[in-house]
Amino acid sequence: MAGRDAVVLVPAAGVGSRLGPGGPKALRLLAGESLLAHAVRRLVSAPSVAAVVVAAPAADLQLVRQLLADLPGDRELIVVAGGAVRQESVRLALEAAPGELDIVLVHDAARCLVPPELVERVADAVRSGAGAVVPVLPMVDTVKRVDEVDRVVATVDRRALRVVQTPQGFRRSVLREAYRAAAGDPDQAVTDDAGLVEGLGGAVLTVAGDEEAMKVTRPFDLVVASALLERRLDRHRL
Ligand code: CTP
Ligand code: MG
Repeated sequence: MAGRDAVVLVPAAGVGSRLGPGGPKALRLLAGESLLAHAVRRLVSAPSVAAVVVAAPAADLQLVRQLLADLPGDRELIVVAGGAVRQESVRLALEAAPGELDIVLVHDAARCLVPPELVERVADAVRSGAGAVVPVLPMVDTVKRVDEVDRVVATVDRRALRVVQTPQGFRRSVLREAYRAAAGDPDQAVTDDAGLVEGLGGAVLTVAGDEEAMKVTRPFDLVVASALLERRLDRHRL
């Protein structure tokens, strides 16, 4: 039985440009509650999670602190201002994380319906000895590589491809080293944290992901998220 030995860093400082006009994505509402509140409520109901550090939009720190204070539970909740790119937001959250927690998870606020069981699966894999862990799903679509004018060059064998989600999990020293190596040079092409570990030649383990941990990126995804929420409520009523 796991104790509370994990901290979750939550990058939530993005503008949400692909979602269209309407303020920072993490503060947009889904069924009357912000995406960030949905996400954090699920994170703190995972037994391993002792603390959550949110990297929030700099202009909304007070709002975010209030929104988190309204959530039930007794886990430590820390809010810091995020940076200009995701990698910078995660770095700032990592600096603010309580030092005694050896398992560090990183979870996108935009994956607002993450099931607590997925959080546990990732934390368990780190606790069992993995330095870096990512939840993955098989690809369902056929994938093609194209050239600079969008002509098909090749069909990629999707059996060897995985779609990667968050939370991603790390032994603290592994994530710290990866961020130290990347310091001062945020790479726009790095869209996940395990990518930094891979860049240093570190091993990254995969565990089964979960469709409910889908990321809200475009307006269509809000429609899906809202349907998932309703399905969940239906199940709980049963
Ligand atoms: N993020 C962050 N700081 C940034 C950019 C992104 O903390 N400077 C966070 C987002 O808030 C989100 C997660 O990283 O929870 C994943 O990023 P993405 O889905 O790309 O969100 P946005 O950058 O907000 O969206 P877009 O790229 O459409 O503008
Ligand atoms: Mg982005």
